Amino acid sequence: MTRLAVYPAGPLRGRVRVPGDKSISHRALLLGALAEGDSHIANFLPSGDCLATLECLRQLGVHIEQHDTTTLTVCGRGKSGLEAPAFPLNCVRSGTTMRLLTGILAGQSFQSTLTGDVQLLRRPMRRVVEPLCRMGAEISDTDGHAPLTIYGRRLHGCEHRLEVASAQVKSALLLAGLQADGVTTVCEPAPSRDHTERMLLAMGARLVADGLCVTIIPGAATLRPLSLTIPGDISSAAFPLVAAVLVNGSEVTIEGVGVNPARTGLLDVLRAMGAEISISSEREQGGEPVADVTARTSGLGGVEIGGATVVRMIDEFPVLAVAATQAGGQTVVRDAAELRVKETDRIATVVTELRKMGAHIEPLPDGFVVSGPVPLKGTVVESHGDHRLAMALFVAGLVAEGETVIEGMECVSDSFPGFVALMHSLGVTVRPA
Ligand code: S3P
Repeated sequence: MTRLAVYPAGPLRGRVRVPGDKSISHRALLLGALAEGDSHIANFLPSGDCLATLECLRQLGVHIEQHDTTTLTVCGRGKSGLEAPAFPLNCVRSGTTMRLLTGILAGQSFQSTLTGDVQLLRRPMRRVVEPLCRMGAEISDTDGHAPLTIYGRRLHGCEHRLEVASAQVKSALLLAGLQADGVTTVCEPAPSRDHTERMLLAMGARLVADGLCVTIIPGAATLRPLSLTIPGDISSAAFPLVAAVLVNGSEVTIEGVGVNPARTGLLDVLRAMGAEISISSEREQGGEPVADVTARTSGLGGVEIGGATVVRMIDEFPVLAVAATQAGGQTVVRDAAELRVKETDRIATVVTELRKMGAHIEPLPDGFVVSGPVPLKGTVVESHGDHRLAMALFVAGLVAEGETVIEGMECVSDSFPGFVALMHSLGVTVRPA
């Protein structure tokens, strides 16, 4: 296990880029594989999760050329051109890989098995299996979890009403719908990220988004290949941005970050807390809005977060909790029970680890309450194998007194290879511990 020591930081300053968006990188590979022809992808995220998708697709007969770590050509095989894999497909720790592939494989003409690390085998899969079975899929799970065995079947379109907003489930159903007879509609209680819809439209699929519902109309038409430069990942930018807000005298700009409105909940919440966040050079890149985002040191006050905002920042709660420890008053997070089924139970792990540093944080069944401001104290904390928790604890270490040792930092490469080097370039001191 990699142990890293982090120290209180002086001002963080600089203009940097973060690696490509994880959600869009997965989709570029998966949809590129279903296209007719070669897709050219730049600024791909070479993280553990996205490389799991890449390896699964290779086992399904897709030729993928890696020109360098971030530039790829995916040689698409068409919507029903995948090949039966010789072995179970290993999704490692990536929920997106497993859920989106389940949607794709349900309608292929062969049998396949999806598996992964223990962390992934604990995550709920019935949320994709059940609605797919209503479309005629035949999938056996293991008590609601992976390993999943998928017996490819002819699918029929269906209307789905999701109880919980989830881009992974929505995308799995749309990808199944692409190969089904008849139309498939997916309605959510709140809008989740729409990267799949944007990409499918750019590839020529017939898709209609109407409020909280999206309908896919399958047809004989093929998917056009992609030519795409993936925007920087706002969920990775979140860590240096929050660090800049908290560390005195800082100003950090992240260039070329995706600012899809379904992903920018953290920026809105930080502003509501009093943070100085500005957005400039707004532009479009590969069908997604992109901008430069600047954060400056600011005094913060507590806020209440719930409802649709939760979905727009679902991956940012570990670092939001760190910001809340430095905010005056209470920050209350509700409607976020989904945090319990992420890479870890993020309500439990965030509460446990931040309490070790002296934070005043109480769990709720569907969120947490943080009271601040509280001076944090450096100590030994643990990532629990959860990349976003590891990076949030790193940010906490920058404003804590003394040395903070984070155990299990290696998991950071699941979403943000180069995180420590990027923080070092902004002025942070770190040492192997
Ligand atoms: C993702 C959707 C979200 C998010 C995950 C990536 C995606 O999960 O937490 O990190 O790429 O579709 P849910 O769909 O389970 O909310």
